[in-house]
Amino acid sequence: MPTTGTVHTLSALLAGGDVAGQRVFIRADLNVPRDAAGEITDDTRIRASLPAIEACLQAGAAVMVTSHLGRPVEGEPDPRHSLAPVRRRLSALLRREVPLLSSWVDGGFQVPPGQVVLLENCRVNKGEKGNCDELAQKMARLCDIYVNDAFGTAHRAEATTHGIARYAPIACAGPLLAAEIEALGRALGQPARPLAAIVGGAKVSTKLTILKSLAGKVDQLIVGGGIANTFMLASGLKIGKSLAEAALVEEARAIIDMMAARGASVAIPVDVVCARECSATAGAAVKRAEDVADDDMILDLGPRTAAQLAGQIKTAGTIVWNGPVGVFEFDQFGNGTRVLAEAIAASPAFSIAGGGDTLAAIARYGIAGQLGYISTGGGAFLEFLEGGKLPAVDVLAQRAAA
Ligand code: 3PG
Repeated sequence: MPTTGTVHTLSALLAGGDVAGQRVFIRADLNVPRDAAGEITDDTRIRASLPAIEACLQAGAAVMVTSHLGRPVEGEPDPRHSLAPVRRRLSALLRREVPLLSSWVDGGFQVPPGQVVLLENCRVNKGEKGNCDELAQKMARLCDIYVNDAFGTAHRAEATTHGIARYAPIACAGPLLAAEIEALGRALGQPARPLAAIVGGAKVSTKLTILKSLAGKVDQLIVGGGIANTFMLASGLKIGKSLAEAALVEEARAIIDMMAARGASVAIPVDVVCARECSATAGAAVKRAEDVADDDMILDLGPRTAAQLAGQIKTAGTIVWNGPVGVFEFDQFGNGTRVLAEAIAASPAFSIAGGGDTLAAIARYGIAGQLGYISTGGGAFLEFLEGGKLPAVDVLAQRAAA
């Protein structure tokens, strides 16, 4: 993973006075959730994209911003995937009317210095997803400076996240992308030890690569949700009718052995919260791990386990968190996630959290202000944990090294 030292940054260009009067093309990730009526339900990503836009405007640049929204069919403009609602929210947040331009790839529009326009959903352009060279070159011609500030899309090699960075006169990371690179590097590059990772979620299969990658790096691996059930099976415990993946028990055992060989460990629950069904009204019973009955469903870590893990978290030097450890949407199965979330919040360790449900848990337990860093990336955050390369960051590093 390149560090912020290995990519050019917008902050450095701004500090050098190199942005005034320039045409700046910002690839942001404004892919925000919307309700059935198309209204934005969470504008975190729009807010997170403001610093780059505001800094360029203040510096007197002519600013173009684009993003994808959803997964439209290329070449078929579709009002359901229009950035129109994003334009409205962005205008309100910037306190100025931001025009929305469609059919912008071939240019033919003027943006005066100190003004900003939003370029309609970049994924409608033919060749975007396939990282078409011709499209990338056309877009690069629109600007003097290309800024990638879209960490959420950093795992996609598309024309606006990758190709354009190869051809724009200058290609750099915006403040959001730079902050993400720095936080992720701090957590997994040169972490303060002990390094603890919490990986929750329903299935081992969706996180197997992450678990294997982390098993080679972390001092404590805390598993939760359906993932913990598969690890319990691998440790010889019964799990009743709980969600688990029997086919992956050997993989889980290999991870336990790999960790043990390094003097590290996977935390296997000593107690659990069980129910007969997974529902809002299901009765919850705390059981020792060895007492789980055939008709039990494990839906949360037990209080002893949660307290033990909270103790480990409090002594960690670095904490990486992805995924709730129980069905926290129902209060009776939310104690494990709440106790761990509060332990992370109270820990002096550098903590980083990311990935869909994790953000919902952070919001539910009100600890957002007490974490070291909350990633705006879903898939990008997971791919980083997998140890995979992020093409959008890589290409910026290649440009900086050239
Ligand atoms: C996300 O929401 O994770 C990013 O915006 C990437 O979206 P995508 O999975 O459609 O590429």
